[in-house]
Amino acid sequence: MVSRRVFMRVLGAALLAALGLLAGIPHVYAFFSRRRRVKPGGWKRSGERILLPLPRLEGDVSLERALANRRSIRDYTREPLRLEEVSQVLWAAYGITETRYGFKTTPSAGATYPLEVYLVAYPEGVLLPDGGFLEPGSYHYDPHSHSITLVKRGDLSRALYEAALEQEWVLEARACIVIAAVYERTTRRYGQRGVRYVHMEVGHAGQNIYLQATALGLATVAIGAFYDEDVKRVVGLGPSEEPLYLMPLARPLRPYYLDESDLMSYIDAYRG
Ligand SMILES: Cc1cc2nc3c(=O)[nH]c(=O)nc-3n(C[C@H](O)[C@H](O)[C@H](O)COP(=O)(O)O)c2cc1C
Repeated sequence: MVSRRVFMRVLGAALLAALGLLAGIPHVYAFFSRRRRVKPGGWKRSGERILLPLPRLEGDVSLERALANRRSIRDYTREPLRLEEVSQVLWAAYGITETRYGFKTTPSAGATYPLEVYLVAYPEGVLLPDGGFLEPGSYHYDPHSHSITLVKRGDLSRALYEAALEQEWVLEARACIVIAAVYERTTRRYGQRGVRYVHMEVGHAGQNIYLQATALGLATVAIGAFYDEDVKRVVGLGPSEEPLYLMPLARPLRPYYLDESDLMSYIDAYRG
């Protein structure tokens, strides 16, 4: 007969081993999460959380062409954005690109990742795959589950436009991405110098948005001129989140295209 003490020891060891497996092996987590996975091109609404279509890792436009055609564009059509386009732009902004530690599309000092990305969807601004529209309001982007969660319901476009010194392009876009920072995540490790690291990082995220928007034939412009407190209130940011960039998103009225021969003549003229 196995004594009670031996039995308890074996049971304890088995429990510890199971816990170790669960904590240490990402595959176990992946196995349990598989049921909630969204297929490429698919999307799913679960309560207030929207699981976005998975990002595409291949596109039709080269990096060089996206760089050449990147421009701040402020005149837009009224055509809505598609959810898969918004999903792709959010991933480019701050999505996951490394699955062991959850590193992202931007470099980040000490991988402290101080940024929080929000989407403000305008009325009839983002078309869903089922033919409806994304409910207007502000949404928080979670890079890990590649999902957005409703933070504040309603048409926030006019209030955001007013918070951004009435820059028309904020009102006329179909959605607006807001990038905020929690400085503490980076200054806790780097002190005052962390402030500049946060500003460098938001520049990376902003450029990612520009390039991805360009590659998708969309338009954006980086906006730094706004009343911080008003943007915080309108979007529903947390008390430690400071807004740094607004980036309206829409289809360009006149897409920008850099002609190769124009560039050659320009460079030639400077060479004399
Ligand atoms: C930090 C920063 C803040 C900016 N703020 C605004 C802004 O508030 N409103 C705006 O229309 N454009 C803003 N811009 C966009 C610039 O006006 C634009 O990048 C510049 O005119 C060069 O044009 P390009 O982006 O097409 O190359 C900002 C750009 C940066 C980098």
